[in-house]
Amino acid sequence: MPTGNELVRALSAGGRDLDPYPLYAELHKLGEVLALTAPELPYSAAVFGYRAVDRFMRDSSFEVHDACWMEAMTPTWHEHAVLVTLMNSMMFSNGDRHGRMRGLFRKVFTPRRVQAMEPEVVRIADELLDRMADLGAGGAEVDYMAEFAYLLPARVVGRLLGLPDSDISWFRSQVDLINDWLDFRRKGPEVLAVADEAATRITGYYVDLIAKRRADPQDDLISDLVQAVDSGRHQLTDLELVGNLLVLFNASFSTTIHLFGNSLPLLLASPEIRAAPELMPAYVEEVLRYDTPAHVFARVASADTEFLGVPLERGQLVAVLTGAANRDPRRFDDPDRFDPHRADNQPVSFGAGPHYCLGAALARTEARLALPMVLDRFPHLALAGQPVRTDQLILRGYECLPVTVAGGSPR
Ligand code: HEM
Repeated sequence: MPTGNELVRALSAGGRDLDPYPLYAELHKLGEVLALTAPELPYSAAVFGYRAVDRFMRDSSFEVHDACWMEAMTPTWHEHAVLVTLMNSMMFSNGDRHGRMRGLFRKVFTPRRVQAMEPEVVRIADELLDRMADLGAGGAEVDYMAEFAYLLPARVVGRLLGLPDSDISWFRSQVDLINDWLDFRRKGPEVLAVADEAATRITGYYVDLIAKRRADPQDDLISDLVQAVDSGRHQLTDLELVGNLLVLFNASFSTTIHLFGNSLPLLLASPEIRAAPELMPAYVEEVLRYDTPAHVFARVASADTEFLGVPLERGQLVAVLTGAANRDPRRFDDPDRFDPHRADNQPVSFGAGPHYCLGAALARTEARLALPMVLDRFPHLALAGQPVRTDQLILRGYECLPVTVAGGSPR
């Protein structure tokens, strides 16, 4: 049987052709958490059991990398715009600072606001499906990832924040440069320099937009955030506002794109869903479990401690494998079977504890509303050509998913 080191080494190598699920199955045979000793691995342990992951992410002994950790690890971090921007966001903050930022975002990004986005989600989906019908007329192949899976969440979060549609593709190009650096296999100095330039451009863009919304508020999240801060009821510096806006935009489309992408082959293989669209929420939960978009997170031990018997020293890094937790046979019967009828299906795809995904409700809303529209519009939708996988494991999905939509007609 392979050791934990070998399995995590194979997972860390990532790559397009990696199928992580057999590796996860091997890991589950070894327990719920493992100490790692391979010197080339950045992690000292991996947590992958369902209950262990849930418990670990709620354990305050383990923190996200924040400015204090950055200071200790990379004293020159202040010189890097991308690090300064990210370290000013809730995703890279702990304790009271995290609570302060997240509290403000929760105040304005409410369930009511998500609900108010529903007609917008439907409208955007309709528009994109019209375009797919045009592009695919006569049986031409259409890339579902580029034309729908990416554009829908990107435009939705754009509307939510108040970014014009025309700026979205520029935004994505910049965010991709930052994501290249965030991917743990590509952290060279050149990649960091490119990410720095992108962060500087995005910061400039947001600073302008914040000033515009301050002068002339609109019905969008940026205006609400600026008003909440200016009212004196909430504290957030402009740099923190920019850092959080960057993270929110990035976290929203770069994950939800893969919820849409990973869903499609599974839905097409399940004809019953066309006849029973009311099952879609259960399908969405099962896609989130069976082929989750985000597989790996990291935490750092804030003190010398232990987790389920594995000793950890202050500063040691732990890999949290949510994609593995969702396939834990101790929690899910026959975990490698796609089964939307499972009882008590609660994947850990949105994390757990203080950093639980801020946009989970929006992601679910988008998928539950838009996926039935895709199936409804294109009764003959079929996969075509060769799908291309993303070249990373942190965000697992398709880069390109060619389909034919023949039979659909523009409205
Ligand atoms: C299927 C889609 C999505 C998945 C799988 C996903 C997954 C996650 C996970 C696992 C975390 C926790 C990270 C950690 O603990 O280190 C997280 C955090 C976060 N997500 Fe999502 N997410 C999705 C969609 C969204 C959307 C649509 C938004 C925004 C509109 C969003 C905004 C955020 C933010 C801001 C955080 C950081 C929260 C914090 O640090 O307190 N996500 N997401």
